[in-house]
Amino acid sequence: MTQRTLVLLKPDAVRRGLIGEIVGRIERKADWRITALELRTLDHDTLEQHYGEHKGRPFYEPLMEFMASGPVVALVAEGERVIEGVRALAGPTDPIAAAPGSIRGDFGTITRENLIHASDSQESAERELKLFFPGLS
Ligand code: TYD
Ligand code: MG
Repeated sequence: MTQRTLVLLKPDAVRRGLIGEIVGRIERKADWRITALELRTLDHDTLEQHYGEHKGRPFYEPLMEFMASGPVVALVAEGERVIEGVRALAGPTDPIAAAPGSIRGDFGTITRENLIHASDSQESAERELKLFFPGLS
């Protein structure tokens, strides 16, 4: 089942020089491809649309501030079960709960700065791909 997913390497990943490390893990999975990739600083409007489901939760405002604190890498990954697959590579939201070998487990400690976003379902992927890469067919 070939799918597409939206991945963000968050400002902490970019600041810490982990772009190559994280992109490499995605690229090396058999038959997965990166079909779009861009470094950009996210504006408040885009972030609000992206994380709107969390509005009103205590971590929302600090999360917005963090996500706007520097450039992110936005990319589209394509391939067999890639939506579930990148979530598995990333590990759970809390990096301390994430197993070593996962991106968050290997490089993260605090939940807000957990290095990577990946769409969590087909519906989220479609919405987020449209938001970040509107030109994509
Ligand atoms: P969420 O969508 O629950 O996690 P995931 O990124 O694994 O899909 O939350 C979005 C982001 O919000 C999460 O990556 C980090 C941040 N966050 C916090 O800072 N504190 C929290 O308690 C939670 C649940 C999330
Ligand atoms: Mg999420």
